[in-house]
Amino acid sequence: MKILVTGGLGFIGSHVVVELLNKSYDVIVVDNLSNSTIDVLEGIRTICNKKPEFEKLDLRDKLAVSDFFVRNQDINGVIHFAASKAVGESVENPLLYYENNINTLVYLLQELQKLPKSNLIFSSSCTVYGQADVLPITESAPVKPAESPYGNTKQVGEEIIADVCKVDYSLNAIALRYFNPIGSHHSGLIGELPLGTPQNLVPYITQTAIGQREQLSIFGDDYPTIDGTAVRDYIHVMDLANAHVVALERLIKHKMVVNFETFNIGTGTGSSVLEVVKTFEKATGLELNYKIVQRRDGDVTAAYADTSRANNIMGWKSKFTLQEALESAWKWQQNAIAAKES
Ligand code: UD1
Repeated sequence: MKILVTGGLGFIGSHVVVELLNKSYDVIVVDNLSNSTIDVLEGIRTICNKKPEFEKLDLRDKLAVSDFFVRNQDINGVIHFAASKAVGESVENPLLYYENNINTLVYLLQELQKLPKSNLIFSSSCTVYGQADVLPITESAPVKPAESPYGNTKQVGEEIIADVCKVDYSLNAIALRYFNPIGSHHSGLIGELPLGTPQNLVPYITQTAIGQREQLSIFGDDYPTIDGTAVRDYIHVMDLANAHVVALERLIKHKMVVNFETFNIGTGTGSSVLEVVKTFEKATGLELNYKIVQRRDGDVTAAYADTSRANNIMGWKSKFTLQEALESAWKWQQNAIAAKES
């Protein structure tokens, strides 16, 4: 079985590639290296003792995408990560996001339609729910108007796939709506590499702990939650990676009920920002320098998943605790600094 992973050198993609190689899939990675580095391939090789095939490809280049599929007719499944993901940047430069996240999806689908049978996994996000009215959030919760062009690309991306699946029964697709992915492979050899100042909580915490940032700002302590800080469902990236392999098997073994399905991928447990900070301190024995500041625009109060569909229908469940995820993030952070200094 040959699986194409687009954006396979990025944070989530690289962990999925490791899971696929460990399950003996043949993997071909395409990535334009816009938000990743070629060194990630070496990390994957050290972990798995084998390398995926790799091709530098920018999916915005329609002709190059077409040419790639002409040369690779034997692809059994596609896991599509290649996309931009910074909320603030998407507000500043919406067209970049529509080009990167929507045009590329259209080109990919056009090529998949030429194959006799195709299987696709799409990276979606819990951002499609906005502030859900009911917690935990089930897949039938209404999709709320997007807060940013980034969020909109996830909603529109799902709609495009749904529309194609309605008329093309040779395409089977699953959208995985990720909650908050954190952590890294236990080896600490691959992980999340934010460009510039991290926007997400856990990279900001680890960079503060290691001395790269002076202080973590906690955005708001006046939310109606357990301690006033916002609540999210933080999922270990290895659990998330495993969810992709389980979803892929569902596609390949034709276990689907309809040809486009959607699953929440989270732990089912909400943690507040302060709980994450305290758990990190417990896991590392360090004291984190933080202060409370104003709420961040666009943040929701609380979001955590009802994972029953993924548990009961797909047969997947998260295994790792928040502490284990934070320990792995810390190991990766320490390795990243050591690699920089050597
Ligand atoms: C963010 C994106 C979301 C995207 C997800 C991908 C926004 C508004 N949302 O989700 O669309 O799908 O990343 O992982 O950017 N926090 C701090 N201090 C920090 C950073 C974060 O207090 O320096 C808080 C936030 O206010 C939030 C929580 O930590 O309550 C998690 O933040 P983050 O990691 O950025 O994820 P989301 O905002 O949930």
